[in-house]
Amino acid sequence: MHTLPQPTPHPRAGHLPKWGGEPIALLQEGAALGKLFGLNLGLQAIVGYGPSWNKRVLTDLETFVSAGSFSRLVPYLAGGIILTDAPTHKDRRALLNPGFTPKALEALRERVRAALHATRPSGEFDALAWADEAVLAMLNAAYFTSEFPRDLLHAFLAPLRSPFPTPMWPRPVAARRVKRELAELAAKRRLLGGDDLLAFLAPLQRGEEEARISLAAAHDTTTHTLAWATWHLACFPRWRTREALKLVVKETLRLYPAGFMGSRRVAKASEFEGVHLKKGALALYSPFLTHRDPDVWPNPQGFDPERFSGAIPAWSYLPFGGGERTCLGMHLAHLLLEEALSLFVHGDLEARWGDPTPRPGVTLGPAGPLVVRFRT
Ligand code: HEM
Repeated sequence: MHTLPQPTPHPRAGHLPKWGGEPIALLQEGAALGKLFGLNLGLQAIVGYGPSWNKRVLTDLETFVSAGSFSRLVPYLAGGIILTDAPTHKDRRALLNPGFTPKALEALRERVRAALHATRPSGEFDALAWADEAVLAMLNAAYFTSEFPRDLLHAFLAPLRSPFPTPMWPRPVAARRVKRELAELAAKRRLLGGDDLLAFLAPLQRGEEEARISLAAAHDTTTHTLAWATWHLACFPRWRTREALKLVVKETLRLYPAGFMGSRRVAKASEFEGVHLKKGALALYSPFLTHRDPDVWPNPQGFDPERFSGAIPAWSYLPFGGGERTCLGMHLAHLLLEEALSLFVHGDLEARWGDPTPRPGVTLGPAGPLVVRFRT
């Protein structure tokens, strides 16, 4: 059995201090040692970014489980489908998937568009702050036909975009208010029907919990992606056409995958390419490292949406994870992002100043602000 290479640890605290302060630098240091490396995060962690590791972690759901993964530490994400494991996960996803197919979501497009227009920016503005507001409004439209009180939704979701440890604090008062509001709206949907996402989720067992958990999974990921994509549209005007938006979103998600690090626990002792995987160890896959791997991507640091007009290598592009646990909201995210970016297709969008450096939190976001100017 091989011993894994690892970045130089702190003599007493292992890799925890660097993981807490500069996780991207630590990941890059590890990646330079090989496609699979070890970290000491209190628990033993195995980090990989090659296609065979990605495939194994994302498809062997008996060995690699979500219970005990990092999601467990964030109360917003610790529940529902996110922490459901094999063998229950598959059936649960089968119940949820029909509400999130491209066809089902098409019914939401008009109301998303209307909500978005109310946030339509002009002049000089911070794309990150605008993205936050626009995504909140679009999600409110898609889930609740905009009936959820905006300020409560904002208060509930905002801590997710704050640096650690803020997202880890339970907020019992806000959580209670959100649950109460959700229960009321869900009861209304069960009685009177409806055609928003809550109307789909409300009749399902634990449907209100799935609404709450998926909203938390949706908000900061989509906000960060929208902010970066807007910034890149401003920096690279030749991509500012309706036809190119899909490619722009894909390339933005390659360079800046909001879910930069996926985590699992090893549920039973196993082996991967000669490396022993101890029961209880953390197993991490990294869309961030995978998407910038020069063995797979020519000019990996460059912004080039064109690369998505052809085929892409298997298990090397994972902004939404992969396999049975692929992001439930992948098509919803694309719909929201493409609708929002289409606001900028006509007119003049210009990057003014800002800091797009990736800043890791629960998800990867731009340090910001990202000030742009839009004139129609
Ligand atoms: C650009 C936006 C988004 C990105 C980058 C993103 C990324 C991801 C990733 C990487 C995973 C897999 C995590 C893992 O390996 O455990 C995931 C799972 C998930 N996402 Fe998203 N997501 C986005 C938007 C959304 C939206 C809009 C929703 C709303 C429904 C959503 C709901 C979920 C849920 C419920 C899961 C858990 C699925 C499961 O475990 O079966 N996400 N997402």
